[in-house]
Amino acid sequence: MSSESRTAVVIPAAGRGVRLGPGAPKALRALNGTPMLIHAVRAMAASRAVSLVVVVAPPEGAAEVKTLLDDHALPERTDFLVVPGGESRQESVRAGLDVLPPGIDIVLVHDAARPLVPVDTVDGVIEAVRDGAPAVVPALPLADTVKQVEPAAAPGEAEAVVATPERARLRAVQTPQGFDRATLVRAHETVTDNVTDDASMVEQLGLPVVVVPGHEEAFKVTRPLDLLLAEAVLARRRANDGF
Ligand code: CTP
Ligand code: MG
Repeated sequence: MSSESRTAVVIPAAGRGVRLGPGAPKALRALNGTPMLIHAVRAMAASRAVSLVVVVAPPEGAAEVKTLLDDHALPERTDFLVVPGGESRQESVRAGLDVLPPGIDIVLVHDAARPLVPVDTVDGVIEAVRDGAPAVVPALPLADTVKQVEPAAAPGEAEAVVATPERARLRAVQTPQGFDRATLVRAHETVTDNVTDDASMVEQLGLPVVVVPGHEEAFKVTRPLDLLLAEAVLARRRANDGF
């Protein structure tokens, strides 16, 4: 592989964003006037290693997303494809994998909902795949202690604690997650369980997954407060850039 390897990114952006509340699909919501998806695409295209970005759009919104990408300045060296997504994140990622051309051997999967990930994190993930890991996830230590519970029968009811995993051994996992292409395709063909990230499918194949350092700015925009945090991060970047 090394410098010969070609890298593509699949960006699942087909979710509604139910937890963010009413409004446009989450990926199309604006951060400082620019759709979250455009921030996420720029974050991926900022890596010189990335030659193709595949955006998986809301099923009814593929044409709108195509227009958005055409309207925003994006690096010349990067190609873009837009495909409609599916009912689940997994189906959306699979739709993106299905259109990858030959010659791509490293695939990153990156949530549109993590628009502010720094390029050094992206490059760190790619580097670890190039170094031979079949699956790589960026992650951070946890601030909160985590309890495993017996989920309540009804919302709001008290829940019994089952266990307290040792916090120092836990990591909060982010994206982009990076993969050897053939491994990720096989994982998506083999694993049918509902999962919340792609690396866990590779774990289910019995293959090693490694963690590299994530970044606090790679947080996922999930709830309304996250929009405020994202805009504050953008404001700080502008101030530091001297605007
Ligand atoms: N996603 C997708 N297709 C789906 C569901 C989710 O492409 N059917 C994408 C989202 O657009 C997002 C990423 O997967 O970029 C992570 O999902 P999440 O943060 O949960 O986003 P949503 O599913 O949109 O949000 P919510 O769960 O609050 O509805
Ligand atoms: Mg979701």
